[in-house]
Amino acid sequence: MSWKITPTGPLKGDILVPGDKSITHRAYLLGALGEGLTLVTDPLRAEDTDDTLKAVRGLGLEVEEEGNTVKIHGLGPEGLSEPEDLLDMGNSGTGVRLMAGLMASRPFLTVFTGDSSLRKRPMGRIAKPLRMMGAFIDGRADGNLLPLVVRGGNLKGIDYVSPVASAQVKSCVLIAGLGAEGVTRFSEPSVSRDHTERMLKGAGVHIGREGHWLVLEGGQIPRGAVVRVPGDISSAAFFLAAAAIVEGSDVTVKNVGVNPTRIGVLEVLRAMGAVMEISPVSGEVEPAADIRVRGVGKLKGIRVPDEWIPSIIDELPLVGVLAACAEGETIISGAGELRVKESDRITSTVEMLTRAGADVSEERDGFTVKGGFPVRGGPYASQGDHRIAMSSAVLALAAAERSEINDTACVRTSFPDFPVLLGKLCEGAVRVVGKH
Ligand code: S3P
Repeated sequence: MSWKITPTGPLKGDILVPGDKSITHRAYLLGALGEGLTLVTDPLRAEDTDDTLKAVRGLGLEVEEEGNTVKIHGLGPEGLSEPEDLLDMGNSGTGVRLMAGLMASRPFLTVFTGDSSLRKRPMGRIAKPLRMMGAFIDGRADGNLLPLVVRGGNLKGIDYVSPVASAQVKSCVLIAGLGAEGVTRFSEPSVSRDHTERMLKGAGVHIGREGHWLVLEGGQIPRGAVVRVPGDISSAAFFLAAAAIVEGSDVTVKNVGVNPTRIGVLEVLRAMGAVMEISPVSGEVEPAADIRVRGVGKLKGIRVPDEWIPSIIDELPLVGVLAACAEGETIISGAGELRVKESDRITSTVEMLTRAGADVSEERDGFTVKGGFPVRGGPYASQGDHRIAMSSAVLALAAAERSEINDTACVRTSFPDFPVLLGKLCEGAVRVVGKH
């Protein structure tokens, strides 16, 4: 599948984007671990989260899907059964790392695998704490690469200082800690997204903070809960960025999750001079807001502070696009984690921007872009990475001529309807070639 993008002018309208991916994964996992009915409304329906739901079914749980609601009939950890087959987590790092935490806490044998991208991503970051807790972990490269074998059960709580700010590592350790004997403490170099902590609390689990430690007593069982999944800010960001770039645009994305640990992209847009209004709509476990962006003129380049990186980690390719369309220089550093995402996102972002004609330099932990040049119409390639495909489409809207973006089927992992929604805001801007 590929997209042909024609820059047809301003983007206009109000849209809803699909449910938050991180929250959907966690809702399914906590539903599986919990006792009682977990009702998930408006979850993300895409390959990554559907793979997690399939894995939950593989643990013997009854799952009902009705319209935009998924119901999981949790029986508590004792009600889970050993999976009969491999758990194939597709493209999803979150799916495999969180699920590994759950499986390590049960006396089961689980074998995880995934697609060719996931099989290259580091699992040592979860193998290490899970082994410290007492799980047996094996896999290629001494347990750093999938396929990964987890033999769980009889875990003991640990104090774990994570060398990386990673919500996936944190969530894996906390979920395993729930099923461990004693107390688990977790600390990380800076705060990563905190959905797991919020959702555990929403399900009645006591999780505290002692200085930089998160503290959780093992043996607690989450109760079934209603999880209302807000729109994914990481998906909304593409349209907000496009509106900021294309002059005359006026776009509102409604009911978007604005968890403070996720809104780095809004800070960047504001710092670059975008005109934005944020109107809160709800604030239960996860706050949500309507976000309006108007395209009123040129953005300006910025140095993105290193402290913002964890809250913008998935949006950095898109920040590269904003930088290309802004006057002056934009510098991103402290983002070495990008190298172990669905693609090496430093290299793939630099390649995307180079195709657009940018003067861009690649560093070990970031990149620097000199913006404000006439954007060339590609051709662009997703490099197998959904966020590079969608970032390229936004970049193509800033070009003078038509672009082609190749190998776009990867958006099925997080945002299958991206071209449909883009077409809604900007009629005729996108033509899908091949099977959608
Ligand atoms: C996620 C955490 C982040 C992010 C990923 C989703 C999560 O990864 O990049 O898309 O839901 O926990 P890391 O925790 O590895 O940084």
